[in-house]
Amino acid sequence: MDSCPGVGPAESLPGVEAVVLVGGLGTRMRPLTLSAPKPMLPTAGVPLLTHLLGRIRAAGVRHVVLGTSYRAEVFATHFGDGTALGLELEYVVEEQPLGTAGGIRNVVSALTEPDVLVFNGDVLSGLDPAEVIQTHRKAGADVTLHLVRVPDPRAFGCVPTTPDGQVLGFLEKTDDPPTDLINAGCYVFRREVIDSIPVGRAVSVERETFPGLLAAGAHLQAHVDASYWLDLGTPAAYVQGSADLVRGLVPSPALPGPVGEALLLPGASVHPDARVGGGSVVGADAVVQGGAQVFGSVLMDRAQVGPGADVQRSVLGIGARVGAGAVLHDAVVGDGAVVGARCELREGLRVWPGVVLPDNGVRFSADV
Ligand code: GDD
Ligand code: MG
Repeated sequence: MDSCPGVGPAESLPGVEAVVLVGGLGTRMRPLTLSAPKPMLPTAGVPLLTHLLGRIRAAGVRHVVLGTSYRAEVFATHFGDGTALGLELEYVVEEQPLGTAGGIRNVVSALTEPDVLVFNGDVLSGLDPAEVIQTHRKAGADVTLHLVRVPDPRAFGCVPTTPDGQVLGFLEKTDDPPTDLINAGCYVFRREVIDSIPVGRAVSVERETFPGLLAAGAHLQAHVDASYWLDLGTPAAYVQGSADLVRGLVPSPALPGPVGEALLLPGASVHPDARVGGGSVVGADAVVQGGAQVFGSVLMDRAQVGPGADVQRSVLGIGARVGAGAVLHDAVVGDGAVVGARCELREGLRVWPGVVLPDNGVRFSADV
């Protein structure tokens, strides 16, 4: 179980509780999400979700309900009742995924406070949730949405607003986004708005609830924030987020070590002639042998990097092994898989768990 030693007894934020949506399948992260749901993937040494829970606690919120579905049992096994994080954690399971709004509606009986903070469980950010609450209360809004600016809004919910922050529309994953402001996956809902979401079927907050509320004349308010923000929905974003945490680019009360060029977990072994940097994590009992270089990567527990291997912006799953002189740039190696000596994996290539690639067996270039 994780704890957040850096977090003192935060001031409390009265009238607020939180819901975290963690029921997605994490399809774009396969094969890493075959063994763990996306919010449980180790990110700078602890599950991604631990960083979010640490921020929620630091904002003074104690009661947090997790809306689970895929691999639901994993969350309670790890976090228990939340005491170690200073939280009161509850779990609600959807037998069939109910979608983002269905997931929020499904936990309503566990909620008692007038303002409900809702989070997508796969976002890493430097936002102070208390500031979104302030915006919400000042505006007297029905729902307040945390928005950020991104260079390419097409993969997100695009949210045009008036100059004073009233939300004008919500366009989920559109090819022709009218603005670079996007939904950052954190909302404040008035309790009664959650009560109005239909029960008993899948409902999308992005495709149904927000457009429906706007059409009915509800007041949706924007909270635009420029602090660090990243959706860890792809392997590339996942290694980036982990490295940014390790290097201290996004502050987290849950980081299990000092910030720096690398984070070595207990039992990790790095040969004196190896170079490990760029915010890499070397997991518990993982090994990096002499002459290897590991940059901006996540080596999960018991992973092994052979002599002279070159691993950059890549993920090695639990117990995965990379042979001597292999090159991995932007690659994902599933749990227990073996990449033979001198193999060359690039450009997002994914090796499924347990697969064994023989020495010289997979190359990208012809110069062997
Ligand atoms: N409980 C539950 N049930 N949770 C779900 C379900 C469900 O059926 N479906 C998805 N989730 C959770 C996921 O686990 C994740 O934490 C969150 O909802 C968002 O799902 P993603 O699958 O990651 O969505 P996305 O990244 O494509 O888009 C969403 O996030 C973007 C920002 O990161 C949307 O909200 C976009 O509008 C937004 O811009
Ligand atoms: Mg996402």
